Amino acid sequence: MQTSTPDQIRATVRQVYGMVATEKPKAGCCGGGTSCCGPTGSSSTRLGYSDADLAAVPDGADLGLGCGNPQAIAGLAPGERVLDLGSGGGFDAFLAARQVGPTGSVIGVDMTPEMIGLARANATKVGLTTVDFRLGDIEQLPVDDASVDVIMSNCVINLAPDKSTVFREAFRVLAPGGRLAISDMVAIGDLPAAVAADPAAYTGCLAGAAPVAEIERMLAASRFERVRVTVQAHSRDLVENWSHGTGAASAVASALIEAAKPMPATPSSSNTGTIHSAACCETVLLSTCCPPEAKSACCGQSPQARTCGCHANAGQKR
Ligand SMILES: C[S@@+](CC[C@H](N)C(=O)[O-])C[C@H]1O[C@@H](n2cnc3c(N)ncnc32)[C@H](O)[C@@H]1O
Repeated sequence: MQTSTPDQIRATVRQVYGMVATEKPKAGCCGGGTSCCGPTGSSSTRLGYSDADLAAVPDGADLGLGCGNPQAIAGLAPGERVLDLGSGGGFDAFLAARQVGPTGSVIGVDMTPEMIGLARANATKVGLTTVDFRLGDIEQLPVDDASVDVIMSNCVINLAPDKSTVFREAFRVLAPGGRLAISDMVAIGDLPAAVAADPAAYTGCLAGAAPVAEIERMLAASRFERVRVTVQAHSRDLVENWSHGTGAASAVASALIEAAKPMPATPSSSNTGTIHSAACCETVLLSTCCPPEAKSACCGQSPQARTCGCHANAGQKR
């Protein structure tokens, strides 16, 4: 897999997960032939999903392909707009639809036509109309700019050849203040050479995992803030189960990945001149300086805060 081009990797991933969706022999999928390819209920409850979660989704939605539970950190609220990257059979998308209710909405994106077909059929089974499954690549999301509040994903980004582009796309489609709630595989060491060279280890969510520091760097470079990558120590058993004693469990773990898209600074003027206040605000663009009513929030409670930054008559230099 190391010598494959990104397009070859995508084609292989699509082929493997197409077979998973159509229940043909499931070799090399995320889960390595054990959890994802066997009975699904027990593997998902091991990841933290409840029996009520399993009962709430259409039959066939939970393929047991996850590596954690992004619902646990998403904190979804009624009315929110959710995007699920790599939605598979729709398991997390259906759970999210329940959380956001009839005033919210959920989009699931997956690049494998058979998965999209399966997820749509599952939605039809239960008459769910607030979930929209779209065929597309998470490196080029078929989603409008600033149009969703929460992006979830479960064991998918490790499969994408260009993870920086995935995070840039995520930033683009999130509304200001929106957040990431992702479960994925991350590298915590070096894979044994034999595992790294095995194509099934890439499609099986092991060899494509990026190091934690690299994920933090890519998120920061995409302008996310409040970045947090939490490695799940208890996932060792899961990886051991997938990788059959190959030593991969010392090199790859499941992690929860959180980050937020910042709110824009409150503009008080379209003026782009600069102001300077030695007291507290430093030199800032007038277009991004604080309006008078937000002074204490942006400059603190010091006596100087009353006078720093922009005046009501913004646009004038101080
Ligand atoms: C391991 S499965 C996880 C499915 C689902 N999230 C779950 O937990 O059941 C990975 C899914 O991501 C999809 N996928 C992989 N790479 C993708 C990409 N670059 N763009 C969109 N979908 C992708 C696959 O088709 C597959 O359905």
